[in-house]
Amino acid sequence: MRVGVLTGGGDCPGLNAVIRAVVRKGVTQYGFEFVGFRDGWKGPLEGNTMPLGIEQVRGILPRGGTILGSSRTNPIKIDGGVDQIKANLAAQGVDALIAIGGEDTLGVATKLDELGVPVVGVPKTIDNDLSATDYTFGFDTAVNIASEAIDRLHTTAESHHRILVVDVMGRHAGWIALHAGMSGGANGILIPEVPFDLDEVAGWVESRFRSHYAPIIVVSEGALPADGELITKDQSLDAFGHVRLTGIGDWLASALEDRTGKEARASVLGHIQRGGTPTAFDRVLATRFGLHAVDAIADKDYGKMVALQGTDIVRVPFIAATGVLKTVPIERYDEVRPFFG
Ligand code: F6P
Repeated sequence: MRVGVLTGGGDCPGLNAVIRAVVRKGVTQYGFEFVGFRDGWKGPLEGNTMPLGIEQVRGILPRGGTILGSSRTNPIKIDGGVDQIKANLAAQGVDALIAIGGEDTLGVATKLDELGVPVVGVPKTIDNDLSATDYTFGFDTAVNIASEAIDRLHTTAESHHRILVVDVMGRHAGWIALHAGMSGGANGILIPEVPFDLDEVAGWVESRFRSHYAPIIVVSEGALPADGELITKDQSLDAFGHVRLTGIGDWLASALEDRTGKEARASVLGHIQRGGTPTAFDRVLATRFGLHAVDAIADKDYGKMVALQGTDIVRVPFIAATGVLKTVPIERYDEVRPFFG
């Protein structure tokens, strides 16, 4: 059997660990051959491939990014895109595909599966917002990076008696802000699921200063003020219809300065959260996902995504993962409220 592998969407620490596991087990246990498709769905769309064997995956376990490259290309939006993909898979002699990606990449996989393309999915996103899996790999790494940044920002905030706003990734879901804010001891956490009241946040800041400590407020890039709009760089959309989020941290720092009269600074962590080597947790999760994805291919159990449930890796239909986003439940947010202010 010849299997194509691609990685789509935003890159994420652990992608290479999945690729390595897929190839190592696929070659040694099942005698599969592999071909890498470059840059997400752009690869099969344009027939752009690279060799993918034991040789190519040697030494990549701890490496961030993806040796296959990635993109946010959406073949469904391109006229004749699906037919082009089918033709290129046939031309390459590919019997089945492993698509490693988040909501958008697996959304395309869902569509292709419905159209008869044999595909198995592996969930990936630092945002941790895919349903049906307890965690996606990359999330733990992002949380650790953000948490370490918060530790560092505490000391500078205190030296200067400043408010420090930490702007973290999370377009629709506040998991990174929630976990990094909890582990870093933030005095306020703002997430997309719960629109925030600026007066309340200013109140937390003032109460923190009264106790002679400097406040740290962690904000998800997709958080929005209760009486305002999403803060975006511009209104341009990517191929999956997402606006480019940026600016909430600076906006919030300046609004808090105006309200409290205290100096504020914003630190935007951005792509630092997605780069570099994965944590041990993410390496193990990504490796297990890869091993189980190749088993699903061997079983011809297509249209499924591997998922972590408890400590088990299971297979779920694509739609269970992509139908509804896994956002932060209000009870999880309420749990951390005692630390605000
Ligand atoms: O893929 C998830 C994510 O990291 C989001 O948290 C963030 O909004 C987005 O990607 C950033 O996208 P890009 O890398 O294309 O700027």
